[in-house]
Amino acid sequence: MKFFVDTADVAEIKELAALGLLDGVTTNPSLVAKAGRDFKGLIAEICEIVPGPVSAEVAATDYEGMLSEGRILAKIAKNVTVKVPLTWDGLKACRALTGDGTMVNVTLCFSANQALLAAKAGATFISPFVGRLDDISLDGSDLLREIRVIYDNYDDLTTQILAASLRTVNHVKEAALIGADVGTVPPGVLKALVKHPLTDKGLEMFLADWKKTGQKIA
Ligand code: G3P
Repeated sequence: MKFFVDTADVAEIKELAALGLLDGVTTNPSLVAKAGRDFKGLIAEICEIVPGPVSAEVAATDYEGMLSEGRILAKIAKNVTVKVPLTWDGLKACRALTGDGTMVNVTLCFSANQALLAAKAGATFISPFVGRLDDISLDGSDLLREIRVIYDNYDDLTTQILAASLRTVNHVKEAALIGADVGTVPPGVLKALVKHPLTDKGLEMFLADWKKTGQKIA
């Protein structure tokens, strides 16, 4: 599973990119508002840090508006992935933008049929929102599972499943077990993946024993 980070915080992106952990970045209008920076400048900077796909979401909701904004965003860098919402106009814009050769991430997916439509519209990525389904007492992982089965049923559906709204380490594990192509994860959750109390305890014991040898490696 590829790892994307779900943030517009450049400092966090730089830190994770330096670890060699990042395959891409996703942003959304809420994350951009939080960053408090000029949108296009921000996307340009992120695209230079991470060579993989960087999602930038349109603000228009009509087809013409999405298409024109998407084309402007696509010009920022080769790795810009235009994010459009899962509406009829969004699907139409998806088809037109992928026709231009631009990567498109269809976002706000909450049903398997929506994911099927996005794939038919030529989406590069489909973003099912796992956490937001959990928020309303549904199971976001079930949606990932259904989409995986549907896409695997048909060779011509090549859209990648980008599991989004992953809020916990268990969400990440579930997405990987199901076979999502990509998981986009907030920096805090990505960092939490490394943690295990037995790792800390074991390391402490090894270091204590190593001290007893009185040796140095370097
Ligand atoms: O970027 C889309 C998605 O990951 C948002 O997550 O936690 O706001 O539902 P969340």
